[in-house]
Amino acid sequence: MSVLRLGYVHINVTNLAEARDHYVNTLGMDVIHEDDGTAYLKSWDEADHHSVVLHEGGVGLVKLGYKVADDQSLADIEKRAQAFGATVDRMSKGDNASVGDGLRITLPSDHTLELYSEIEYVGTATGLWNPDPWPRGGLRGIGVPRLDHTLITTEDPALLERFFEDVLDFRAAERLVGGPDNDDLVASWMFCGEQPHDIAFVKGANGKLHHFAYHMPDWSALLHASDVMSMHDVPIDFGPARHGVTRGETVYFFDPSGNRNEVFSGGYRTGKDWRTITWTMDQAARGINYTHREIDQQFLSVVT
Ligand SMILES: [Fe+2]
Repeated sequence: MSVLRLGYVHINVTNLAEARDHYVNTLGMDVIHEDDGTAYLKSWDEADHHSVVLHEGGVGLVKLGYKVADDQSLADIEKRAQAFGATVDRMSKGDNASVGDGLRITLPSDHTLELYSEIEYVGTATGLWNPDPWPRGGLRGIGVPRLDHTLITTEDPALLERFFEDVLDFRAAERLVGGPDNDDLVASWMFCGEQPHDIAFVKGANGKLHHFAYHMPDWSALLHASDVMSMHDVPIDFGPARHGVTRGETVYFFDPSGNRNEVFSGGYRTGKDWRTITWTMDQAARGINYTHREIDQQFLSVVT
């Protein structure tokens, strides 16, 4: 069985027109489908129907979708999730626009995780035949190429880590530990393929979203992204800066509803033989913001 990647992030926004403007004109995503106060968007280098879903009505995470390799993977995961004691339902084709049958799992952290193997193939903006390196019409705004990962909060990071290990075959690339004996898990960055992380979680309230991130080609793209944010009066949380954890480069910012976004580049390659890196709480500020070695209280406290 295998989980391929984060497929979609479905969030609530307070005002769909404002959110649409942010994700389309500032981030550069395209609206692929729209119905009933819900917009489905994809980035230019993504092939599947959508990667971000915006639903008007509040703020915060509705659900996460991870794409798996095939139906056998879904059947295996269903059994393992049941054995773990998680609530698992079958989801039907059409529950999500252009997404096939799959599983809907309530995580130990109360987040809803959907798993699916089929989604309508739309294709990237540059295609499969003699492609240009980027769309000929140019990129709009930041021009994000693809979704990368998400970070959610949970009351029990150790339990959620065990779920992702036992049920979904994820592994921890890096962990942040605390307590007198450094055996309390505070945060974990986990991968399913060879990225530094496909999901991460940190101790906090159940069911909340800290941020979701887009993958960018390099550090200079982050400076360009920051320029666009300034032009569009987007509130920046922190960055451009380097993470100690994942060694990635980052800018955090907010959509008009207050959901946190990130543009992320760099990092390293993981894999089945990866040995987990550990950070201790006395070095947590360097782990999160290696450049400035301090963490803004807003970064720790604001979740949606
Ligand atoms: Fe991130």
